[in-house]
Amino acid sequence: MSNNNFLPFLFLIITLSCSFNFATVKSSTYNVIQFGAKPDGITDSTKAFLNAWTKACSSPYPAAIYVPQGKFLLRTVTFSGNCANKAISITIDGTLIASSNYLVTGKTDYWLRFQHVDGVSIHGGVLDGQGTALWNCKNSKKRNCPTGATTLVFMGSKNIKISGLTSVNSEMFHIVFNGCQNIKTQDVNIVAAGNSPNTDGIHVQMSSDVTIINSKIRTGDDCISIGPGTNNLWIEKIECGPGHGISIGSLGWKLKEPGVQNVTVKTVTFTGTQNGVRIKSWGRASNGFVRNIFYQDAIMVNVQNPIVIDQNYCPNNKNCPGQASGIKISDVTYQDIHGTSATQVAVKFDCSSKYPCNGIKLKDVKLTYKNHVAEASCNHAGGAALGLVQPESCL
Ligand SMILES: *[C@@H]1O[C@H](CO)[C@@H](O)[C@H](O)[C@H]1NC(C)=O
Repeated sequence: MSNNNFLPFLFLIITLSCSFNFATVKSSTYNVIQFGAKPDGITDSTKAFLNAWTKACSSPYPAAIYVPQGKFLLRTVTFSGNCANKAISITIDGTLIASSNYLVTGKTDYWLRFQHVDGVSIHGGVLDGQGTALWNCKNSKKRNCPTGATTLVFMGSKNIKISGLTSVNSEMFHIVFNGCQNIKTQDVNIVAAGNSPNTDGIHVQMSSDVTIINSKIRTGDDCISIGPGTNNLWIEKIECGPGHGISIGSLGWKLKEPGVQNVTVKTVTFTGTQNGVRIKSWGRASNGFVRNIFYQDAIMVNVQNPIVIDQNYCPNNKNCPGQASGIKISDVTYQDIHGTSATQVAVKFDCSSKYPCNGIKLKDVKLTYKNHVAEASCNHAGGAALGLVQPESCL
């Protein structure tokens, strides 16, 4: 066949195969407006969103939900799984807002919850938790402030993708993955005031194979917090601050607790945060552990505790006086960590007297305090320093 004859033939094949694909892979888009959602920020659109979800979930084919521009007021809502398909994509061009009355949202511990879903992706959108009034209540030390709601929770779910999502002013944590598997989160933007209590950016626990990349997190608590039972977590390209840094813990509150292992934290900038990379456990008996943790390529800008392991966490000396942490910490590597500490002690390993930290490695670490060499402090910590390490290692 000459080239001239081949071209139309090729087009025919492409056309045929395209229409073939459309015919077999059906997919429907459910626009929340069709279900009665109002983009006015005042009308309660919860039912409309739930009805759109029910349609998408019962579709035997991949389904899409579309949220157009505008503000949609939503009450506390659970999107439940066991769907007929494993590919629901939710595209949000608008803003979902919670009630500004914390007596409404703060009654449950979540605002938007996905439970037992498989194959859900969320693209774009702004989630506005309207948490300011609750923070003010808590900060003014008033009694009877509710705990507050986490903005977005995934419980017992798998194969989840979140991209391009913005979460602002959550009452409590912004995004939580609990009991989940295979999660990819990228290009997420999280913002809350630096003095807002408990507004952690992303919290992961009892979950495996979670990736968090390319995101900006500014809050009043941990940018990312890592709870018991976390395995194979990959965190990369994060801008953190203000906030309390990236924390493993607090662990060891319970006597029986699953451990944390195989966590990588790579290419992160911490700006003005309380901590950089932190591992924290209660000074209480526990069978938990932390192992195979890899911190690489971090920049610290005026961070109060750039590198810290604190195993004697016990606020107000309540519920743990005189106890050693049972959490066993081993094989933690800090590599290529540079920048400035806001306090004299830039590296602090305060480990359990009963189960000293072991296999701690410092490699090419340089942290300064007010243009001078900073200090390192060690308690029950063993390991090695390689390459240039400043402050001088105390391991
Ligand atoms: C550690 O986690 C990463 C993903 O973060 C994964 O690719 C790797 O296989 C895990 N390693 C082990 C030994 O499980």
